Amino acid sequence: MKTPAIQIHDVHKQFGQLNALNGIDLSIEQGEFFALLGPNGAGKSTLINIMAGLLRPTIGHVSIMGHDVIADYQQARMALGVVPQELVFDPFFNVREMLRFQAGYFGHGPENDAWVDQVIEGLGLTDKAHTNMRKLSGGMKRRALIAQALAHRPPVIVLDEPTAGVDVELRQMLWGFIKQLNREGHTIILTTHYLEEAETLCERVAMMKQGKIVALDTTANLLKSHAGKNLRLTLKGAHLPPALLPMLKHGELGVFTLALSDLTQVEFALAELRKANVDIEDMQLIEADLEDVFMSLVGGV
Ligand SMILES: Nc1ncnc2c1ncn2[C@@H]1O[C@H](COP(=O)(O)OP(=O)(O)OP(=O)(O)O)[C@@H](O)[C@H]1O
Ligand SMILES: [Mg+2]
Repeated sequence: MKTPAIQIHDVHKQFGQLNALNGIDLSIEQGEFFALLGPNGAGKSTLINIMAGLLRPTIGHVSIMGHDVIADYQQARMALGVVPQELVFDPFFNVREMLRFQAGYFGHGPENDAWVDQVIEGLGLTDKAHTNMRKLSGGMKRRALIAQALAHRPPVIVLDEPTAGVDVELRQMLWGFIKQLNREGHTIILTTHYLEEAETLCERVAMMKQGKIVALDTTANLLKSHAGKNLRLTLKGAHLPPALLPMLKHGELGVFTLALSDLTQVEFALAELRKANVDIEDMQLIEADLEDVFMSLVGGV
């Protein structure tokens, strides 16, 4: 069997009285495109910082490509590229210099320049390659930080909310580039609050809540096992009969989405609408998505 890209064994992290991580066990195989999801404060960034060797676990072990992040820090760090959630950067260099320095920290020399240029191009930074980091717009800084994480060509890439505050064009460019890296064999771990991104990109998902993993499965299995269907109703007149309110997921401007635990609830909904003399303009049965799974597993914290 291949060495896992990331192996996390019984990791706990305490900050004073707070248990930010509560016994995390997780193994991510080489070549996976993996999503780490969870509400604010669930512990995602804490776990990522432990992977990156920036924080020490209170208990437990983490290894990257078989290298323990504490005992074998250098090798573990070489194998990992982390795009941090916070925008932190060195203001004195231009983009290309910064990337070459970054690769230099990891022992690369001019032989790596072709890769640096590939990253610059892949992230749409060609025009900004000679611009000083502090003069970049927020979205461009985000691109440069992603490039920085990739500069030493790590086999394992962790992206902590890379698309927060990023425009649609960059998101598409970024995902196109990251998908290509994944096809070339890089392991990708992603956190995001845009669940539709995780749903379309990631083949496996872990959902965290209060420092624990509450679901770990393929995206397809999670969609199959944890969520029913939704009924989208467009009604004449903006009122939903009170009996249907417990099923309401969201509703505005006369369009209401009801969560169905099974299909017999369609009949129930229609009967209630008839009883209340509400006219239905349109009705659609739609598949539940990862957001439904998320809300049923970790919602209401
Ligand atoms: N350095 C720290 N000192 C004390 N508490 C911390 C520290 N870092 C994180 N925490 C706490 O640990 C918990 C987990 O935080 P973490 O940043 O890992 O969450 P997250 O899942 O990344 O959330 P978000 O989606 O908001 O980024 C939170 O309650 C947070 O306040
Ligand atoms: Mg975070």
